Amino acid sequence: MWWLSLCDTLMTSSARRKLLEAFRKLVKGGEKVLDVGCGIGRLSSILKELGCIVYGVDISREMIEIAKRRVDGIFKVASAYNLPFPDCWFDAVVLYYLIDGIADPVKALMEAKRVTKIDGRVIISVLPLLSSVREKLTYKRFLKTSPFNGMVPAEVPPLLREVGLTLKEVHYVDDPLGTELPPSALKKKLDEAKLTHLYHTPIYVASKQTSSSS
Ligand SMILES: C[S@@+](CC[C@H](N)C(=O)[O-])C[C@H]1O[C@@H](n2cnc3c(N)ncnc32)[C@H](O)[C@@H]1O
Repeated sequence: MWWLSLCDTLMTSSARRKLLEAFRKLVKGGEKVLDVGCGIGRLSSILKELGCIVYGVDISREMIEIAKRRVDGIFKVASAYNLPFPDCWFDAVVLYYLIDGIADPVKALMEAKRVTKIDGRVIISVLPLLSSVREKLTYKRFLKTSPFNGMVPAEVPPLLREVGLTLKEVHYVDDPLGTELPPSALKKKLDEAKLTHLYHTPIYVASKQTSSSS
């Protein structure tokens, strides 16, 4: 819960607007969209504002209760490994800052693919720090006290191939929640490490195609 409290603190209106503008390119009004690991509905509320029919699942009952109060959508307590929906049910399934925080990302991606319609999208984001940076920064120390498994963005495309999803696009969003430190503190660390451009969270858009077309 401490992590999501931090998320909410950092979620300024300008950050929310940037995330909304990024997702405007990724979903359409009227589409049925599932937010897996929705937490307290930070992204679900953006999907709702974009006119989607929003579904959200999270393993935390406490967070789902908050999401229900905040967002007009269908929210359920459920695991990413066992989604309570039929095959080919959603136009898009979003896993935002989820697969870098769970033990079996492949299983979660397979399950997301299962509930996505043919030609639908699976939209994935992980924390944006590069592995080389993790060595240089205090990231390892952070990992010991956070839920993250240490996955880096470069690991996402091979995982998509492994589960049979086709990577179509990568977008970048300046999402301050994509850093483990407040922006000013991270900037200082990056300056010390002589590194730049690490605020941007990559958003991978993959398509589920028929086995004959993929
Ligand atoms: C870092 S938070 C991200 C929340 C939200 N996607 C966002 O961007 O604001 C990760 C969320 O995934 C949830 N979670 C962790 N493991 C899960 C699992 N196996 N199935 C479903 N949700 C899970 C956590 O409870 C938490 O709400």
